Amino acid sequence: MCGIIGLTKKSEDSVKDVLRGLAMLEYRGYDSVGIAVITNDGRLIVRKGAGDLASVRKRLGLDELRGRTAIGHTRWATHGAPTDNNAHPHTDCKNEIAVVHNGVIRNYASLRSYLERNHELRSETDTELIAHLIEEELRNGKNFIKALAETLKKLEGSYALAIIYKKEPNRLYFAKMKSPLILGVFDEGSAVASDIPALLGITRKLIMLEDGEFGYVEPGGISIYKLVPEGSFYKINEENIMNRIKVVEWSPELASRGGYPHFMIKEIYEQPQALSDTYNGLIEDPSLKEASKMLSFSKRILVVGAGTSYHAGLIFTYFMSRLIGKIVIPIISSEFKFLEPAISKGDLVLAISQSGETFDTLEAVRSFKKRGAKIIALTNVVGSALDREADLTLYIRAGPEIGVAATKTYTSQVLALELLAVETGRTLGVIDNKEYEKIVETLEKASNYIQDSIEVSDPVAKYMAKLMNDYKGSLYILGRGLGHYIAKEAALKIKEISYLHAEAYPAGESKHGPIALVEKDFPVFIIATSDSPEIVGNAIEMAARGANVWILKSGDLELEIPEDEKIRTIDLISTDGNIVLEPFIYIPFFQLLSYYIAVAKGYNPDKPRNLAKTVTVE
Ligand code: AGP
Ligand code: GLU
Repeated sequence: MCGIIGLTKKSEDSVKDVLRGLAMLEYRGYDSVGIAVITNDGRLIVRKGAGDLASVRKRLGLDELRGRTAIGHTRWATHGAPTDNNAHPHTDCKNEIAVVHNGVIRNYASLRSYLERNHELRSETDTELIAHLIEEELRNGKNFIKALAETLKKLEGSYALAIIYKKEPNRLYFAKMKSPLILGVFDEGSAVASDIPALLGITRKLIMLEDGEFGYVEPGGISIYKLVPEGSFYKINEENIMNRIKVVEWSPELASRGGYPHFMIKEIYEQPQALSDTYNGLIEDPSLKEASKMLSFSKRILVVGAGTSYHAGLIFTYFMSRLIGKIVIPIISSEFKFLEPAISKGDLVLAISQSGETFDTLEAVRSFKKRGAKIIALTNVVGSALDREADLTLYIRAGPEIGVAATKTYTSQVLALELLAVETGRTLGVIDNKEYEKIVETLEKASNYIQDSIEVSDPVAKYMAKLMNDYKGSLYILGRGLGHYIAKEAALKIKEISYLHAEAYPAGESKHGPIALVEKDFPVFIIATSDSPEIVGNAIEMAARGANVWILKSGDLELEIPEDEKIRTIDLISTDGNIVLEPFIYIPFFQLLSYYIAVAKGYNPDKPRNLAKTVTVE
């Protein structure tokens, strides 16, 4: 999720390169830093701590370390608070193996209870388990590469790993599954890192690794193996490896945002990874079950959040009602006072906040807590104020979001909330095991669907942004049911990033007032979700008053749309009949549209005027 780097070379200054690489990874956001090095006299030294690179570097004297093989990490906590202990690298019981990891190990709870029996676990992380699993395989007499392969077979979830082993001081092991990992080649040695910027100061000759690949580098060469689904593995031919070397020509400026012109577009494009990490992080997390029990047995359920987090909460209310027949009351955080007197023991509050630090949401939570309500938090930031305030926390694990606009954290919140809704349905017995498996398997694929949706939406959004380049007026985004809730988030993106007045409205309600604004060429977007085919009637009403109407629909949704030059249809990808996937199909278009309008007008999408990433005032 954050950054890893590892290096092995002929000279003894690997740590210097690792530190330079870590500095280049800072743009990704992180909470702790650490390195491990094998010294020339054969010791494995680990130094790590919470804080930023400059302070940890100074506090722990990282610059004084020397050695030919070293690894480094910037952590963004997903399992366990950002403390010195939880910082990477993590080691086995004998301190011979040091591991740095990006990603999320899905089956960490079961691995942990297995390892606890005969290993000394020193942190709360999923990562540490990997060092002990390798240790266990080595104890069984395997060589390191076989021990690594056996370990990888046991891991579910996502990982980019760099590993060093005291007894093989000139080797740097690596492995990749669903988290990015790149190899760098240079005359004096080889390196691995989770992204290109980390390696640019060392080399521009790179190999992009693929899922299931693992192996080692040493000053004389590279060995890559591939895991195959049946559980065995094979070695990739050396010539094939050499043919994969690419030379990258990025400027340092571009590199500071991972090759994207802005964080916002980078984060929009990170949504497939974020969704996969959200899914992997939650699906076997005992807290998900625990939360579903709390939801099942509470008197009333309230969902609280601000801005985008509130919009994700609305989608939760929709699926709780639609999938499991349970009513959830949504509240905007800053409006909590009016409900406060009605709250009492037995009520449950689900508080949603990406940052976990939003003042309004914390105020609401504290006041509801005082009145006896139990609190479940859904946040992206482990150890945040909301995390600490709550009785139970679920993490979305979307990775750090730096752009002020919530993009990947929104879709990760929605996925987490859908998982929570189906889990609650199962706990209550209103969803049987077969139905549960079906929905969960669909949600596992949300990552693939959003990837396709982004690809299909991008050129259309770019084109629409051009059409709207000179437009300064208002626009409507209409939906019914689920479409209306998605529209609310779409309109927020257009407002905050493109500085256009966009209003989301339930399409059926639009004729009760808002339609008065519609005149010739007034722009209206219609989000046609599968629950409301009658929305076509609202599109016709708008077009009849001269509006320019764009109906967005998933490819498989059949609607009777009349021939009318004022009504155009934008076909997005198909959901294959799965309503739970619809939020992931529609929202990327609006994220991209707001982004491209902003860029065309010369606004900075990463730092929109008057806004802060985390709002810590009332
Ligand atoms: C989203 O694009 C906004 N910048 C904003 O509405 C945000 O969602 C809101 O301030 C809540 O933030 P939180 O999720 O960190 O609590
Ligand atoms: N899951 C790991 C942890 O919480 C890795 C986090 C990261 O990718 O930075 O330590």
